[in-house]
Amino acid sequence: EQINKGKYEHYMQKEIHEQPESLTTTMRGRLIRGGSSKAKSVLLGGLKDHLKTIRRSRRIVVIGCGTSYNASLAARPILEELSGIPVTMEIASDLLDRQGPVYREDTAVFVSQSGETADTLRALEYALENGALCVGITNTVSSAIARKTDCGVHINAGCEIGVASTKAYTSQIVVMAMLALAIGGDTISSQARRAAVIDGLFQLPSKVKEVLKLDQEMKDLAKLLIAEQSLLMFGRGYNYATALEGALKVKEVALMHSEGILAGEMKHGPLALVDENLPIVVIATRDACFSKQQSVIQQLHARKGRLIVICTKGDAASVCVGGSCRVIEVPQVEDCLQPVINIVPLQLLAYHLTVLRGHNVDQPRNLAKSVTTE
Ligand code: AGP
Repeated sequence: EQINKGKYEHYMQKEIHEQPESLTTTMRGRLIRGGSSKAKSVLLGGLKDHLKTIRRSRRIVVIGCGTSYNASLAARPILEELSGIPVTMEIASDLLDRQGPVYREDTAVFVSQSGETADTLRALEYALENGALCVGITNTVSSAIARKTDCGVHINAGCEIGVASTKAYTSQIVVMAMLALAIGGDTISSQARRAAVIDGLFQLPSKVKEVLKLDQEMKDLAKLLIAEQSLLMFGRGYNYATALEGALKVKEVALMHSEGILAGEMKHGPLALVDENLPIVVIATRDACFSKQQSVIQQLHARKGRLIVICTKGDAASVCVGGSCRVIEVPQVEDCLQPVINIVPLQLLAYHLTVLRGHNVDQPRNLAKSVTTE
């Protein structure tokens, strides 16, 4: 049943729309809601014998490729915050090219939907040789990465067929948020935040259902962008990853140049590209970086950029001052989980752009679902 398209035309479309269910499955049995006798908490069975070692590690290194790397980047802030351990990020091929440092005192986390990606697998072998504790986060039980890591967590997103990863991305972020909760101690000072993250996780499936209602709006936007050559996406903080992942989706399936840009870097080069012709997506949902994103929007307006702003419901007027822009309003969740919501309209945009431009949605040219050669 999982591998037929049901009422959908394409696997990518089906996989985008089944995210409320895939997220529910990812969390099933792992979160404790809390109540009179029990505290809110998280249980990751695959890690239970290793949590002490992980907590003692000098550093957490998260390693992946493509979308799996982007998901890791989205979860990095909450992993740093709750674990209190320095977190570094590595694209697997780059770690190998540099033969970068990996130590016995490190916990190396390998994120891969397929569990078979050659670069990630080689990086795992490298980390094992260097004596790091290796944790796997995969969607494929008994895949090479699941087998070779010391311990791990399955994301349980269900079979993903479309070459463009969608539901695995959101489930990977959720698993890494749960990993952050599992590593972090239940100190008095972190209790409120931990409870808010757990409540936020419980709310995600219904909030994703809500954001999926933007389908027609994103199709209309895709109609406007159909003939564009390029699309920039600006994000920062929790949503830098959203910009990278949104751009990756657009380029890999819609075959349109798209670049995710860290908004903090705008003045260090990318601003030179902005004129009245270039469409730019700005992710400006409510979090600690909101006022900085408001200022980015104003500066892009001043250069007459064609803006598409993703903002929190009710914020249209506060994000779109000083010029005209198209606003996509999304529901709000706990800030560290907002990337799970914000990517959905961009997945829908990439999907509709692809169909309208007449390209193969599920099997984009030159790409394979699992990259098994270096
Ligand atoms: C995602 O849309 C891409 N097709 C690609 O970047 C993919 O995420 C990457 O190849 C890593 O694959 P993995 O998660 O199976 O390791």
